Amino acid sequence: MDWNGYARYYDWEFDLICTDQRKDVNLWLKLAERFGDPILELCCGSGRITIPLLEKGFTITAIDNSPQMLQILQKKAGNKVETILSDMTSFQLKKKYKFVFISYSSFQQLLTQKEQLQCLQRINEHLEDGGVLAMDINPSICDEPDILGKTHHYTAEYPPGNSTVTMYTSHRIDRKNQIKHWEDTYLEIDKTGNERTFVNHISLKECSIDAMKKLFSKCGFEIENIYGDFELGDVKEDSSNLIYIARKCNSKLRL
Ligand SMILES: C[S@@+](CC[C@H](N)C(=O)[O-])C[C@H]1O[C@@H](n2cnc3c(N)ncnc32)[C@H](O)[C@@H]1O
Repeated sequence: MDWNGYARYYDWEFDLICTDQRKDVNLWLKLAERFGDPILELCCGSGRITIPLLEKGFTITAIDNSPQMLQILQKKAGNKVETILSDMTSFQLKKKYKFVFISYSSFQQLLTQKEQLQCLQRINEHLEDGGVLAMDINPSICDEPDILGKTHHYTAEYPPGNSTVTMYTSHRIDRKNQIKHWEDTYLEIDKTGNERTFVNHISLKECSIDAMKKLFSKCGFEIENIYGDFELGDVKEDSSNLIYIARKCNSKLRL
C-alpha cells in the first residue's frame, strides 16, 4: 500500500466518491464525548476525523505510518495535535488514554492474525484501566466476485493539480486468506497535456464477528457493544459498517 504516493489524492477523492463513509464523523464525535479525553487515534491519515475532534476541544494523539498523510494533517492542525509517525502494531508512547479509536476499516489493513494481535496488545497497553477501544469494520469486503478487471471508475477535475484525473480500479480476492487486493490506477493530465500515472495497491482483510470476538478476548478486551451503522443502530444482515466498542478489562492477555 503506497499511502505516501496516494496522499495527494486522498482528501479530494474522499470528497468525490465516499458519500456514505463521511457520515462517520458524527459517530466519532459522539463516542469521544461518551468515552472522553485524552484520545488516541490510530491510522489518522490526513485528519478527516482528527480535525473535527480538535475543533470540539478534544486532546488527541494521532498515529499514522505515512509521513505524507501526517504532513497534510499537520498543515491543517498546526500544533493543536500531537502526531506520531509509527506503525499501529508497534507504537510505544509514555501516555495512557481513555479512548482509542480506528476509523474507516483501517484495522483491516492488518493482513495477518499476528499483526492484529500485536496492534490490539499495543492498544491495551496504552489504555487506562476501563478505557475503551472503538473501531469501524467493514464486514463484507470479500462479498464480491473473485476478480474485477481494470474498470473505469471516474474522470474528474483535480483542482490542486490544475488537471483531470481518470481512475481505473481492479481487484482480486484471495479466498483462502479472506483478503481483497485492489489495484487502482490514477492517470492525471494537466492543462498542458503532461501525464502522470500513479498505481496504488490496497489490501484489506475480512474480519468476521467471531474472529473479532476471539481477537478482543485474547487481548484483554470485553466487547461492550457492536452497532450496525454510524447512527449506533442494531446490527442487520446487510450492515456495511460494524462499530465495535470494546472495554479494557483486567483479565490477563491470553496471547
Ligand atoms: C483509509 S485511511 C484512513 C484515514 C482516516 N482515519 C480517515 O478515516 O479518513 C488509512 C490510513 O491508515 C494508515 N496506515 C496504513 N497501515 C498502517 C499501519 N500499519 N500503521 C499505521 N498507519 C497505517 C495509512 O497511512 C492511512 O493514512
